[in-house]
Amino acid sequence: MISITQILYSIIFFSLTLNNTIHALSQKTQPYPVSYVLSCGASSHGTDENGRRWKSDARFLTNSSNSRTATAQYQDPSLPSTTPYMTARIFTSNSSYKFSVSPKQRFWIRLHFYPAPYSSLDPSNASFAVFANGFTLLNNFSASTTAQALTQAYIIREFSIVPSQSGDLSITFSPSTQHKGAYAFANGIEVIPMPDIFNAASLVGFSDQSVDVHSSSLQTMLRLNVGGQYVPPNKDSGLTRTWYNDSPYLFGAAFGVTSQVDNNTKIEYSRDVKEDIAPLNVYSTARSMGPDPKINENYNLTWVFQVDAKFTYVVRFHFCEYVMTKINQRVFDIFVNNQTAQQSADVIAWAGSSGVPVYKDYAIYASDRDGDDKLWVALHPSVSMRPEYYDSILNGLEIFKLNDTTRNLAGPDPVPSAMMLEAEARAEAAAKSYTFSDSNIAARVIGGVVGGVVGCAIVVGAAFIYVTKMKSKDNSSQCSSTTWLTLNGYSHTSTGKSTVSGRSNASSHLSSLAAGRCRHFSLSEIRHGTEDFSESKVIGVGGFGKVYEGLIDGGTKVAVKRSNPSSEQGVHEFETEIEMLSRLRHRHLVSLIGYCEEDGEMILVYDYMANGTLREHLYKTKKPALSWKQRLEICIGAARGLHYLHTGARYTIIHRDVKTTNILLDDKWVAKVSDFGLSLTGPTLNQTHVSTKVKGSFGYLDPEYFRRQQLTEKSDVYSFGVVLFEVLCARPALNASLPKEQVSLADWAMHCQKRGILEEIIDPQLKGHINPECLKKFTDTAEKCLSDHGIDRPSMGDVLWNLEFALQLGKNPEEGNVVSENKYLRDTYPTHGALLNIDEESELVLSEEIDDPDNPDTVFSQIVNQRGR
Ligand SMILES: *[C@@H]1O[C@H](CO)[C@@H](O)[C@H](O)[C@H]1NC(C)=O
Ligand SMILES: *[C@@H]1O[C@H](CO)[C@@H](O)[C@H](O)[C@H]1NC(C)=O
Ligand SMILES: *[C@@H]1O[C@H](CO)[C@@H](O)[C@H](O)[C@H]1NC(C)=O
Ligand SMILES: *[C@@H]1O[C@H](CO)[C@@H](O)[C@H](O)[C@H]1NC(C)=O
Ligand SMILES: *[C@@H]1O[C@H](CO)[C@@H](O)[C@H](O)[C@H]1NC(C)=O
Ligand SMILES: *[C@@H]1O[C@H](CO)[C@@H](O)[C@H](O)[C@H]1NC(C)=O
Ligand SMILES: *[C@@H]1O[C@H](CO)[C@@H](O)[C@H](O)[C@H]1NC(C)=O
Ligand SMILES: *[C@@H]1O[C@H](CO)[C@@H](O)[C@H](O)[C@H]1NC(C)=O
Repeated sequence: MISITQILYSIIFFSLTLNNTIHALSQKTQPYPVSYVLSCGASSHGTDENGRRWKSDARFLTNSSNSRTATAQYQDPSLPSTTPYMTARIFTSNSSYKFSVSPKQRFWIRLHFYPAPYSSLDPSNASFAVFANGFTLLNNFSASTTAQALTQAYIIREFSIVPSQSGDLSITFSPSTQHKGAYAFANGIEVIPMPDIFNAASLVGFSDQSVDVHSSSLQTMLRLNVGGQYVPPNKDSGLTRTWYNDSPYLFGAAFGVTSQVDNNTKIEYSRDVKEDIAPLNVYSTARSMGPDPKINENYNLTWVFQVDAKFTYVVRFHFCEYVMTKINQRVFDIFVNNQTAQQSADVIAWAGSSGVPVYKDYAIYASDRDGDDKLWVALHPSVSMRPEYYDSILNGLEIFKLNDTTRNLAGPDPVPSAMMLEAEARAEAAAKSYTFSDSNIAARVIGGVVGGVVGCAIVVGAAFIYVTKMKSKDNSSQCSSTTWLTLNGYSHTSTGKSTVSGRSNASSHLSSLAAGRCRHFSLSEIRHGTEDFSESKVIGVGGFGKVYEGLIDGGTKVAVKRSNPSSEQGVHEFETEIEMLSRLRHRHLVSLIGYCEEDGEMILVYDYMANGTLREHLYKTKKPALSWKQRLEICIGAARGLHYLHTGARYTIIHRDVKTTNILLDDKWVAKVSDFGLSLTGPTLNQTHVSTKVKGSFGYLDPEYFRRQQLTEKSDVYSFGVVLFEVLCARPALNASLPKEQVSLADWAMHCQKRGILEEIIDPQLKGHINPECLKKFTDTAEKCLSDHGIDRPSMGDVLWNLEFALQLGKNPEEGNVVSENKYLRDTYPTHGALLNIDEESELVLSEEIDDPDNPDTVFSQIVNQRGR
């Protein structure tokens, strides 16, 4: 079951897992003795993709006769490596591991779970508790429910356990007694000694009270490198922690700006803060509010986290000031759960000088009232202190859960959303019929055509109609069931006189989150805005229906997507789409403004994109040719949007239909990724129509997707590679009128690239206008995207990085966009109170330090986004 599920709609993996994480331990820098890194159920040692060795767990079992080893039946494409996830140890009765540890040292326990079918066992029958030295780490735990709710393929739990005194550590797996047929399992266990880095934390709201963290065991809820990149375990300072990027947790549209220490400033640990606390990577990046004091005064830089109620949490803030140098330059208040945790925080005052890390711990109790399963963290300038700059800063954040008085750390499993479960069930039905009844024919036809050099576009079209027809015979709902995966925009909070939904049909099923963020339009408003769906207002047609240009609020242009009554999109898909879109927001995604569900109409209202699709500016057009810089900037914008879909949202979202008609341009030429065709070119070979059923368009399809029928975000990377060549060569991805070897742009461009003759096929309008280094970087990147195997393709983040680099290479030195950090400071922080006019579109490059683009640790061009809002 899981396997099918994962194949066809493994679109969303919780952001914590998607970084292709592995927990590698850099042995040479490991200063703490006796770590245990065990691959459960493995007969011999194995190595993960970072080269970290995982040993067999067998000799640490206290009784080898009450457990057995098993191998997962299915390898989810999002697993970072087979070790330790593909083998497991299954426990059908209480069983323990015993380790000898230092009696005086705390240690991390990390548990790895991959809920998959193991021999004949159903993953949903795994329900168990885990105890360690008298602490309950997990209870009534279902790894499959948790994975489903978080849309993760695998789960890692980290705990910090107080010193054992006896020198023994026993970890017990205990199958649930409440669930008939329950079993326990584990894929990986790590026991890593650690220094005691916890002390007292002041209790928020009680100025004179503190919580003694020292004597408690903890669960790590979250660990973020704020404003910085993912830090894998082997880049941590010896404690093999993983630090994630913070952007998925930012609340609201105010993202602030990120920055990075410039290469002249050295960050140095102090006596109080050593590398145990956090690695230098964490302290050398930060998020702050932005250069505009007026804006900063009016918003809070806010993050929101999911926690379990009825526990005490310690929130650890990591700071390091590398821009300001004096006291009272940047002073701010810290709020935790809307209460003041710290007034007038001044990092320089705490640290003594610039470039010195500090951290602060605050404790808060999450009671059991409504909304207490969320933990809010917010920063706001301390205006009353009259600091020189109205701003705030944060470099890192960790949240730890403390054991309660019964030595318990276990919370309830997260609950998968009902809507998601329903959508999954439908997708699964479709997947079954697709995989089992039609797959042979479909795979052969499609594989034959797409896998090799594309023979003829007409044949492709015919094949698809055939497949589609066959599918429709089975079950009328199945074709549409993938529609909900189509994520093409985001919502933003309503503006003006919006009617926040509460009465519509859809809203009764929508979560309060979606309903609150998404505006509900009445049908009469929509009819009025589109002149009663006048044909003269149609700007696009697709399998789903028509797209109209509309006006709302007496003048704001919008795109109105009206579902065809005969369209296969059902009410549930429609609601699911709203639900999902309302969770996504990004400057480079087309935004959903609202919806209308009335009289059987299903209408979505999006931002209007004045400049249409990218394709219509590339070829077969009367429009003026885009300059190389414009093209590059559009590619960078689209890459940002996709990167956000892959990693930035709470879920990983695979677009599945990346192409130049799904990259739209607004009036300021900002690229926005979308999924509805605003300007389709005729019904002859209606690719978009096809694509609503079997996602993906010919010419852009990842060959590996067909070979293995496994969808990963690397399929989008492949399609994006085709887009890059399309932009460079200004020709369609498929052009059946060309000689056979040239029909497919992907194949032809790769052929020319390999033979070093790519320059011959680039857009004549560009010839002589591209800096050769810039061109090389661009084509190398596109080539890597088109690698045959997903694993060889870069991530969207790497693609973005390389394109930004290419843009820098293409820049004239005189253009002067590259400024030093001090100049940035002078220019963007004028005397306090002054309002600065930075062009919304401008992006300042703070510092560049470019080494090896393949090395994730490399410091690279730090882009300051548009203003903080
Ligand atoms: C080991 O487990 C088996 C099966 O649960 C049990 O019969 C046996 O008594 C156990 N041995 C010890 C030494 O606890
Ligand atoms: C297994 O452990 C649990 C929790 O400690 C306990 O409640 C249960 O009785 C144990 N089962 C057996 C068969 O010992
Ligand atoms: C254990 O979890 C299941 C669902 O996973 C739930 O139905 C049940 O109520 C839970 N039991 C307890 C005692 O929490
Ligand atoms: C799950 O456990 C129940 C109770 O023992 C059993 O009837 C059922 O067959 C199990 N499911 C699978 C797929 O093994
Ligand atoms: C800092 O930048 C300069 C040039 O801007 C470079 O020569 C130097 O190697 C860099 N230092 C480090 C430590 O990377
Ligand atoms: C904090 O305030 C926000 C609104 O600003 C609210 O939605 C949230 O529930 C509050 N959180 C707590 C824990 O009170
Ligand atoms: C910032 O958050 C605090 C605490 O929730 C709240 O009192 C304050 O009004 C917020 N300020 C702004 C500008 O939103
Ligand atoms: C956690 O457990 C320890 C050991 O029982 C206890 O001393 C401590 O008070 C507990 N922590 C909290 C916050 O209750």
